[in-house]
Amino acid sequence: MDAPRQQLRLPLSIILPTYNESQNIANVLDSIVEALPQDMPAEIIVVDDNSPDGTADIAEEWWRGNIVNHGNIRLRVIRRPGKLGLSSAILAGAHNAAGEAVVVMDSDMSHPPQTIPHMLAELERCDIVVASRYVKGGSVSGWPFKRKVASKGATKIARYSLGIRIKDPMSGFFAFKRHIINGIKFDAIGYKMLLEILVKARGAKVKEIPYTFINRRLGTSKLDSKVTFDYLRAVWRLYRYGRTASPAEGRKSVRFFSKAGRFYTVGASGLLVNYLASFAFTLLFPDIWYLHATVFGILVSITSNFVLNKLWTFEDRDFAARKAILQYGLFAGFSAFGALVQLGMLYWLVEGQALAYPVALVMAVAIASVGNFLLNKKWTFKEKVWG
Ligand code: GDD
Ligand code: MN
Repeated sequence: MDAPRQQLRLPLSIILPTYNESQNIANVLDSIVEALPQDMPAEIIVVDDNSPDGTADIAEEWWRGNIVNHGNIRLRVIRRPGKLGLSSAILAGAHNAAGEAVVVMDSDMSHPPQTIPHMLAELERCDIVVASRYVKGGSVSGWPFKRKVASKGATKIARYSLGIRIKDPMSGFFAFKRHIINGIKFDAIGYKMLLEILVKARGAKVKEIPYTFINRRLGTSKLDSKVTFDYLRAVWRLYRYGRTASPAEGRKSVRFFSKAGRFYTVGASGLLVNYLASFAFTLLFPDIWYLHATVFGILVSITSNFVLNKLWTFEDRDFAARKAILQYGLFAGFSAFGALVQLGMLYWLVEGQALAYPVALVMAVAIASVGNFLLNKKWTFKEKVWG
């Protein structure tokens, strides 16, 4: 591929996060300078986490040695006090970037800088450009089988659980227009900055272009089991973020009815639990009076309904004992109240309104259960009634 010749319109910042890259940093800086068109002004920001091997000093030395040769390139080194993580390093770089076009890449020679001009050309027409290993023309060179499988697995998790459509959301090589991250609150956990940008920069136009990832020849990868764990934590948070952060009115109704649907599903499961538990009590205690067994069955089903509604319907993960007990009390109280309402309604509809029992029963159950749902939504789980 020939590098596109046109002069870039957006001022450019390239972010290079580093941790112990003393063997790579000078090479990567050289190769970036070589790959950029002669007259393209650019700012390179090295974000170093106090690497014990002196990466930051080497970067500054490189700059002093090259300052004369590269009139339109600037280098800045941001030194952070300790190893604070790749995502947060990228974010720190982006917040300090002067350019409107921001390119993020690894500093271990895995990401060929020859791809940068192509990314910038695409960025003229969209908001985020992802250099991708998994589109046609892209590939990975030098990775062991295990790492390939892990990468594909992580990619699948992101695509299915977060509804991400692009092929390589795990890429560490990407470009974006800086303004698209304005005002976004980032978690910046672990490695996956791109993933978080893709989820949170709503409406951004994304394009993927192919590149070949070359596994590092020098130094060691910093991707360890903590990074893997951080990944799962980040995906979980982004998943929850997607479920709750939609101010649009249309989504409120979706949330309301999906919760109502869950509440009724739980209610139906309660009938089964009630039946099975009552029956089990008569088997366990052959001498028990059947009405007593049924009372136990009711208690068991109220409890299982409560737990399922707390965890599933209302997604309430606060298990502080005081609060949970209070909620349980309210829930049981509303259940009893609902039963009384149902009986009262039924009596009134059959005796007062002369409705047939089956019709009256449907109406009474419907009214009592809707009331139950709304009361629990508002008072037990402290949510807005609508939404
Ligand atoms: N400042 C800073 N702080 N930099 C870090 C940190 C950190 O805590 N951890 C890693 N880096 C830097 C490394 O110095 C390197 O330049 C870059 O981030 C990537 O780290 P590697 O350890 O080389 O990651 P990798 O090669 O295993 O993973 C790469 O490929 C993945 C694709 O599966 C990265 O590009 C990932 O982002 C990418 O997802
Ligand atoms: Mn690497």
